[in-house]
Amino acid sequence: MNPIYITRQIPQAGLDVLREQGGAFDINQDDHPLTKAELKAAVKGRSAIMCLLTDTIDGEVLDAAGTQLKVVANVAVGYNNIDVNAAKARNVIVTNTPGVLTDATADCAWALLMASARRLGESERVLRAGKWPGWGILQFLGQEIAGRTLGIVGAGRIGYAVGRRARGFDMKLLYTARTPKPDMDSVGAKHVDLETCLRQSDFVSLHVPLTAETKHLIGKRQLEMMKPTAHLINTARGPVVDEAALVEALKTKRIAGAGLDVYEEEPKIHPGLLECENAVLAPHIGSATTETRGKMATMAAQNVAAVLKGQKPLNPVL
Ligand code: DGY
Repeated sequence: MNPIYITRQIPQAGLDVLREQGGAFDINQDDHPLTKAELKAAVKGRSAIMCLLTDTIDGEVLDAAGTQLKVVANVAVGYNNIDVNAAKARNVIVTNTPGVLTDATADCAWALLMASARRLGESERVLRAGKWPGWGILQFLGQEIAGRTLGIVGAGRIGYAVGRRARGFDMKLLYTARTPKPDMDSVGAKHVDLETCLRQSDFVSLHVPLTAETKHLIGKRQLEMMKPTAHLINTARGPVVDEAALVEALKTKRIAGAGLDVYEEEPKIHPGLLECENAVLAPHIGSATTETRGKMATMAAQNVAAVLKGQKPLNPVL
């Protein structure tokens, strides 16, 4: 048995790093998440697990691997799928892939923002259905972006990259974070509390990690604080938003629209969301460019290789 187990198919670049650095691996040949039982059986006796955000790595899986397990390397920046405390208690290092997906994800947030503002999904559906009667001056009227206010909830790398892009649209910028961030200040963003951010923004973009504290950060009460003309963009994690409350807000036009890349129970989508013409829905593609996914796999493989050589990994999460 090889010391490294890779739970799903990953870009070739990551496999090349493992081969060059002498890390022999087995890989799940199917590109679908393993069941808990399959995962437990596959990781037994391994020193390293390279996993994806669709794998739940909890105490049970860590115990199934055994006490020789040294590292769990997530091929993602978000690591809410891994029980970090359980790993720490077992002296297992957890790593993630920060930085390399910042631009791709910020671009995706902007794509959703623009698509939501300009009703791109809805108008394309009409066209594809053969129902477009031809140009009309009152058709598909959306919202201006230039000069409006963008509220960024969570001012880490991706939040900052989204804010930087807003400068090209002459937008006013607000952001929430526990403490003021010099980066955000340097792009002219104003540090405010969540309520002010929600009340004053025309577009609200979410960039917080999923934790016990951020679960349902945006619920009915917060949606009611938003302007009826506002759009909510989520490229972070689905459970940050109470999806049922969002469906209600979209259906009653309490807010104007939403651009979503992530969902509460992926790959299930709340049926109400599918009925909302004012929701632009992407299938968790924030980091999905060839270059970025290659870099994520490379970084995760470098983390595995470092730990197996007895070195410090580049990206430990704690
Ligand atoms: C992440 O890395 O956390 C994204 O959601 C997927 O790339």
